[in-house]
Amino acid sequence: MKKIKIGVLTLSDRAHKGIYEDISGKEIAKALDGYLLSEWESVYRVLPDEQKEIEKELIDMIDNQGCCLVVTTGGTGPALRDVTPEATEAVCEKMMPGFGELMREVSLKHVPTAILSRQTAGIRKNALIINLPGKPKAIKECLDAVFPAVPYCIDLIDGPYLKTNDEVIQCFRPKS
Ligand code: MTE
Repeated sequence: MKKIKIGVLTLSDRAHKGIYEDISGKEIAKALDGYLLSEWESVYRVLPDEQKEIEKELIDMIDNQGCCLVVTTGGTGPALRDVTPEATEAVCEKMMPGFGELMREVSLKHVPTAILSRQTAGIRKNALIINLPGKPKAIKECLDAVFPAVPYCIDLIDGPYLKTNDEVIQCFRPKS
């Protein structure tokens, strides 16, 4: 059986230049390790906030590397260089606005600035792309909220079956 591949893509000019360490990307991998019982491997990249480069990487992770899920962090805010949602939309056939809506709702309980994130999600081919904000503490806050729907979403787009750890996260698959 083919190993499950998941993209972890950090978008930050400063992390890319090495001005600070990419903690958020590592937090994503840690959260996924906790949720998943299925064996998986990450395809991990840190890129600057350049829309065309981000689009190219998303396409490569999905079309060439075979990722069924790509989780991005950073570049979702209102600043001029924040272009992650635009890059996501440009490579997706379908947008999944419910992900952003729920993540903002949950994040608002932690920070009033949650409304500054334009984070979204979308489908490209057999893969789901989810945007998270750049702050390390936002990673679990957002992923814990939306992950319960992720395995079923990936079933629906004919991706691999993700087995999850009920003691860590209660995922939901409607009985057919
Ligand atoms: N969401 C959560 N859960 N926790 C946070 O600390 N920070 C907010 C928001 N969403 C935050 C959050 C802030 S301050 C900004 S500017 C936006 O996410 C966009 O962040 P980004 O540009 O790093 O993606």
